[in-house]
This record gives sequence, C-alpha cells and structure tokens, in this order.
Amino acid sequence: MSEQQNPQPEKEGVYLRKIRSFVKREGRLTKGQARAIETNWPAMGLSVDTGMLDFNQVFGRQAPVVLEIGFGMGKSLVAMAAAEPDKDFIGIEVHRPGIGACLADAEAAGLTNLRLFEHDAVEVLAQCIPDASLARMQLYFPDPWHKARHHKRRIVQAEFAQKVRQKLAIGGVWHMATDWQNYAEHMLEVMSQAEGYQNQSSSGDYVPRPDFRPLTKFEQRGHRLGHGVWDLMFERIA
Ligand SMILES: C[S@@+](CC[C@H](N)C(=O)[O-])C[C@H]1O[C@@H](n2cnc3c(N)ncnc32)[C@H](O)[C@@H]1O
Repeated sequence: MSEQQNPQPEKEGVYLRKIRSFVKREGRLTKGQARAIETNWPAMGLSVDTGMLDFNQVFGRQAPVVLEIGFGMGKSLVAMAAAEPDKDFIGIEVHRPGIGACLADAEAAGLTNLRLFEHDAVEVLAQCIPDASLARMQLYFPDPWHKARHHKRRIVQAEFAQKVRQKLAIGGVWHMATDWQNYAEHMLEVMSQAEGYQNQSSSGDYVPRPDFRPLTKFEQRGHRLGHGVWDLMFERIA
C-alpha cells in the first residue's frame, strides 16, 4: 500500500495526507561527511524551527539570494556559490550524505555565502522564505517520477509554481533543468499556463544551458546514457 493510501502519523493522533516529491534514502554517512556536518553545521546550517528568515541577518550583508532545491551532493551548488561571491546561496536537501558532502566541499572552498537546510523544500519555502525575496530559484534534475501513476509526486505542479512565484522577487527567475523529456514537457506545460511568469526562451520553450549552471553529476550520467538535457527559465513578471 502506498503512503497516499496509508497516511503516516505526523503527530500523535493526527494523520495528514501528504504527497512528497522524495523518498528518504537511508544512505550511510562517510566519516568525512559526518565530520563536515559536525564542524560546519553550526555556522552553515539553518533550521525550520527558526521560522521566517531575515537574509541580511543570516548572511551579515545585503545581497541577491539564490535558493536551490534538491542539490544532491552539492557539487554544482558549491561551484556556483564560489563563482558568484556577490550573491548569497541557500540549498535545501533531505538526503543527509548530500548535506555532509556539500558542507565538506563548501569548507574546502572557504565559502561564506552558503547556508543549508536539511528538510522538505516545500515546508522550508512556506515557513522560512520571505515573500518576494529571491533573485533566483534553482531546481536541477528533480526526481522524474517517470511512471504515470507517480507523476503526482513530481515537484513541479501548478500549485507549487505559485508557491515559488510568491517567493521570487519581481524580475526573479526560476531556472529548471531535467534530462527526462517527458518531465521537461510537463514543466513547460505547467509553467506556460502559470499566472505571473514569462518564459525567457525566445522560441517559447527551452533555453540553452546558461554559463552559470555547471554540469551536475546526474547530468553527466544522463549524457552517458544518451539523454538530452532541457533547461527552462521563467521570470516572475507579476
Ligand atoms: C535526482 S536528484 C538530483 C540532485 C542534483 N540536483 C543533481 O543534479 O545532481 C534529486 C534530489 O532532490 C532531492 N529532493 C527531492 N524532493 C525534495 C524536497 N521536497 N525537498 C528537498 N530535497 C528534495 C532528493 O533528495 C535528491 O537528492
């Protein structure tokens, strides 16, 4: 029985039906990842319990903020934060080994403009990210949920598009990439119909990979498997 049919108890006596975009994988932490978390979490970790963030306070300065959902092991997020020191970056991931790997790389790169949440991004957006505050939102190679009966678990949906729009500043951009054509088509359909966005593609569909997005691990794997890659960029215009 799936968790949609069998809701999980969230609090004692309370049953909530939630469709999540991820399955929590119980990956073991390497020693290096565990050490990186222990050393760096106090300075770079954020908690949903803190509530709505004040970015100026979190980063100790005023700068454009970029939010990435599902950064995986964090290689490309760290590379981007290092390449754009004039921006501040927040990464969200539920996979603990990814948190550890990202923190280890961030420490090695000496980053001061990166903070992480280990939590469901949908809840982080609602509880911690102020409205109209983000310069860019990044969603790279989200879990494709390629079986039709799982499509409802895809994170890109009409309702989620509006939750993201609420958090983007006017002129802010939601950048997505996927190596699953069917998911790319789904993203394009959802975003083309979403109120308040303008597609940045001159052909009305996809954009070339912008220079600021490095190749990710999943993308390299996709290339090896002969998959294409589709980038989409939608600007918040209202
Ligand atoms: C297919 S991986 C891609 C990772 C990375 N972006 C890359 O390209 O290598 C998708 C990641 O999104 C994370 N994820 C999925 N839904 C999430 C959510 N609601 N909140 C936070 N992370 C999520 C998963 O744990 C997984 O690590």
